[in-house]
Amino acid sequence: MSALLEIIKEEIRESGPISFCRFVELSLFHPQHGYYSSGKARIGKKGDFYTAPSVHRSFGETISRFLAEASLLLGEEKFVVVESGASGGQLASDILGALRENHPDLYLKTDYVMSEISPAAVQAAKEKLQGHEERVRWTDSPFKTTEDGFCGVVIANEFLDSLPFHRLKSDRGEIREVFLSLRDGKIGEVLRDPETEGVYEFSKRYLEGYAQGEEAEACLLAGKWLAEVGAALQKGFVLCIDYGSLAPELYSPQRRKGTFRCFYRHELSSDPYMRVGEQDITADVNFSELMRVGDTLGLATAKYTTQGQFLVDWGILEIFKTYDKPQNQRDRLAAKTLFMPEFMGRKFKVLLQSKGFSSEELAGLNKCQAFRIML
Ligand SMILES: C[S@@+](CC[C@H](N)C(=O)[O-])C[C@H]1O[C@@H](n2cnc3c(N)ncnc32)[C@H](O)[C@@H]1O
Repeated sequence: MSALLEIIKEEIRESGPISFCRFVELSLFHPQHGYYSSGKARIGKKGDFYTAPSVHRSFGETISRFLAEASLLLGEEKFVVVESGASGGQLASDILGALRENHPDLYLKTDYVMSEISPAAVQAAKEKLQGHEERVRWTDSPFKTTEDGFCGVVIANEFLDSLPFHRLKSDRGEIREVFLSLRDGKIGEVLRDPETEGVYEFSKRYLEGYAQGEEAEACLLAGKWLAEVGAALQKGFVLCIDYGSLAPELYSPQRRKGTFRCFYRHELSSDPYMRVGEQDITADVNFSELMRVGDTLGLATAKYTTQGQFLVDWGILEIFKTYDKPQNQRDRLAAKTLFMPEFMGRKFKVLLQSKGFSSEELAGLNKCQAFRIML
């Protein structure tokens, strides 16, 4: 049995049933054995799953085009970019590389602040970002981000889907929460009334009408993260890119089995109790909740669209056109994966929230290219 599973069982023995959310927290973020914190998480071909930056650099290059325009709107001396869950620094490297090449003045005033929980990933990022040391700073927690009152852009690419979430199930007309208890020394699921503040309110907001046995996830930490960064941001943008949907789709009658899933070496599974601490556990992001929390903080929804459309709007096709030589075949295929609807283009969504701008100021940011990705 894995050491982590034993630690989890010990916690249940000592303090009674633990929420599924606590189980995910320990599985992913236990300081020694957690999937992310221990450095076991591997992204890319040889890892457990792909993320957009691991697919191709044109993702970061396209985001750098958005950043260049955002910095013009901000017009500040210093341009702060905060990246939460930066992993091995691939996105930061692609963004900073593109800024240095295409916008050297902006590059020199960029203050790129990164957070990452895995010491191994931080080490890898420091190596990857050699040459950009003057531009990069690290912060301990994505929830603290940087000093209060900063102006800039916060980026979270596939960060929110990695945060621990509660699992809720409809049971005899009530929404109850999945907890873990021990039966004959084995972990089993039991339903209890939600205990964590906010879970009950979340269920009232989104899960009315759920029938017996139907289930969903509630990631309160995503809203908490947004509340923290949103409060610290004086003027600027929050750019969240992730898989997920708006609430009407996420909790539609066809999708009430829940969305959580596990990944191990590119294999999908629905069993979180296998390979505890060795596999990723993730769930779809509720973008409606981010919009709701944003509204309470003066973070207005500037854009909600698919990843494919966002990348096309910000010029990925121009970058794509430069891969016209036979030797660029791999670049063409990889870049296509990012924006074509049948690959990452439709499933991944982009939420851009803004603070401190008038709608006239934002008009120029709402680019819409003629080429439309079908939603
Ligand atoms: C799914 S990965 C995405 C990584 C990267 N953004 C990308 O697109 O390739 C999520 C990352 O967020 C990090 N992470 C999760 N929770 C964190 C936290 N509380 N503080 C810092 N990093 C965290 C994980 O360690 C992991 O590197």
